[in-house]
Amino acid sequence: MAQEALDSSTYPMVGGDGPHSYARNSNYQKESLDSAKQMMNELIDQHLDPGNHLYSFNPGNNSFRVADFGCSVGPNTFRAVHNIIEAVENKYKSLPVETEMPEFHVFFNDHVNNDFNTLFRNLPATGRYFAAGVPGSFYGRLLPSSTLHFAHCSTALHWLSKIPVDVMDKNSPAWNKGRICYSGAAKEVKDAYSTQFGKDVDSFLRARAQELVPGGLMMLVADGLPDDVHMCESSIGENLNVLGSCFLDLAKMGMIAQEMVDSFNLPFYYPSPSELKTLIEVNGLFEVKKIEKLDSSSAKKGVQLDVDVCILHMRAVLGELVKKHFGEGVIDILFERHREKYIGNPVLSDERYIKDASYVVFLKQKIKVTS
Ligand SMILES: C[S@@+](CC[C@H](N)C(=O)[O-])C[C@H]1O[C@@H](n2cnc3c(N)ncnc32)[C@H](O)[C@@H]1O
Repeated sequence: MAQEALDSSTYPMVGGDGPHSYARNSNYQKESLDSAKQMMNELIDQHLDPGNHLYSFNPGNNSFRVADFGCSVGPNTFRAVHNIIEAVENKYKSLPVETEMPEFHVFFNDHVNNDFNTLFRNLPATGRYFAAGVPGSFYGRLLPSSTLHFAHCSTALHWLSKIPVDVMDKNSPAWNKGRICYSGAAKEVKDAYSTQFGKDVDSFLRARAQELVPGGLMMLVADGLPDDVHMCESSIGENLNVLGSCFLDLAKMGMIAQEMVDSFNLPFYYPSPSELKTLIEVNGLFEVKKIEKLDSSSAKKGVQLDVDVCILHMRAVLGELVKKHFGEGVIDILFERHREKYIGNPVLSDERYIKDASYVVFLKQKIKVTS
């Protein structure tokens, strides 16, 4: 059903399972899922209501439907789905009246050009659920009305549906010349990004509100920044600025044109918890049951500080975007230069600057939309 135009925001993670693939370089995202597991168990136990008649299944179709939006190629999505099913099963087992365990139907969503072959090749052979791929942008409708019981989306909502138009307009005060993101840029650039994010979140919530059954649940693991921290004060902001400076170096070396750097912008926006909460409240279709920062004091911090892991992670996430704009020839030299600069950057190796926040947002659909 979903038709998707391919632009700079629809270039997914590096596919396959080679040394630069997302499948082998997504430990950072895995740590977020692991940190969120306990909280998700508790929230599903508290808020899943199998007895709600609006929520219950059609006769003869006892399937509990789960979707992972922005699933990429695995293996993290399999981990997320495993955690969700386990929590739902625990809830069913704990009911005072013995209730038949539902069958599970899982929908894996990502952009049409995601490497779904790698995803399905590596599907765990547990037979615990039926699997289906749902290609297309999660900013639009992807599933029929009132069919989904649990929606999940981790480390994906910070991808905008498109680069804000003004950021690429030479005549706009938001023109982002010489930078690849809004970190350290003019206020107008940040404003253009946050406006786009607001529109995208609204579209995401509207689509999910229609797809979820009444009272259906949704969990987001969001990548963002703590309230009151500016992008340029965080390690992700500094890291992207260092990467941006590597593009400028390649331009000075004559390997790429300066205009190409000026027209390259990353489709990422990192919201603070209160910013995201306000957007959800303004949208009005979900109750916010929980919004809480994940503990980043453990392994995730270690992952962040390991230079090689960090560069491989950046390459797995950004490689396809860079290739599309600048061509394949720059990739190796770009990320080698990034690595050299990363090592020599005192900010990136100073724990005081690790102010990135991953947080959980747990929502319950509160009204039924008719259109
Ligand atoms: C950093 S990866 C996270 C993947 C996985 N959820 C995980 O935790 O490892 C972000 C994923 O979101 C996908 N994505 C971004 N925007 C999307 C959109 N509008 N519709 C569907 N998928 C999207 C990207 O293609 C990418 O695979």
